[in-house]
Amino acid sequence: AGSGKFFVGGNWKCNGTKDSISKLISDLNNAKLEPDVDVVVAPPFVYIDQVKTSITDRIEISGQNSWVGKGGAFTGEISVEQLKDLGCKWVILGHSERRHVIGEKDEFIGKKAAYALSEGLGVIACIGELLEEREAGKTFDVCFQQLKAYADAVPSWDNIVIAYEPVWAIGTGKVASPEQAQEVHLALRDWLKNNVSAEVASKTRIIYGGSVNGGNSADLAKKEDIDGFLVGGASLKGPEFATIVNSVT
Ligand code: G3P
Repeated sequence: AGSGKFFVGGNWKCNGTKDSISKLISDLNNAKLEPDVDVVVAPPFVYIDQVKTSITDRIEISGQNSWVGKGGAFTGEISVEQLKDLGCKWVILGHSERRHVIGEKDEFIGKKAAYALSEGLGVIACIGELLEEREAGKTFDVCFQQLKAYADAVPSWDNIVIAYEPVWAIGTGKVASPEQAQEVHLALRDWLKNNVSAEVASKTRIIYGGSVNGGNSADLAKKEDIDGFLVGGASLKGPEFATIVNSVT
């Protein structure tokens, strides 16, 4: 960990029921969380209100996606204004599942980020390479291209956290080694330094996601350019998520 306050997000994805979420909230409310960490959870949209009204104020809420502009006649979408109305402070954008399963493209994701920021939401901006891209030696190219799409679209980096999530590590149990993650995080920081500014490079938090759990988070957190985590599966278990939050060094 190096830049800024450690940041741990729990991306619950499309999981849970009213009952299971109520249990998760009570586990999180009872957990002892290190004070010097930003802790955020991203429930499925339909449970955000339930979470917001019963979770401790210590934990902020994020959407898992948002519409690219003002709400209106966009069947099935959720607007930034609605997320704010429910008390969200953040939105996850550019997640690999939206890129590779739903087909969202760089430019569209950049526009979403710019719109969410303009309305005052913080953006957890996801990027990451596929296995075949890593094996072809294209990890940096792919990540820089995705990062550039955000950089081209946003006027300021004040309210952005970058989440590096190698697609081959997501939900596979195959976590990146601390060295693999650190190598990419450092390259991303250098890219920001060379293409945005030295200040943005040093202030922007770069968090890692992909099979983070209570057993591997501490070693990852020791790396200088890993400023937190975006956690999927392990964020559905309150005590384990707390362990990850508390792995801040
Ligand atoms: O956004 C978090 C995520 O994609 C990682 O998922 O289940 O590998 O921790 P998981």
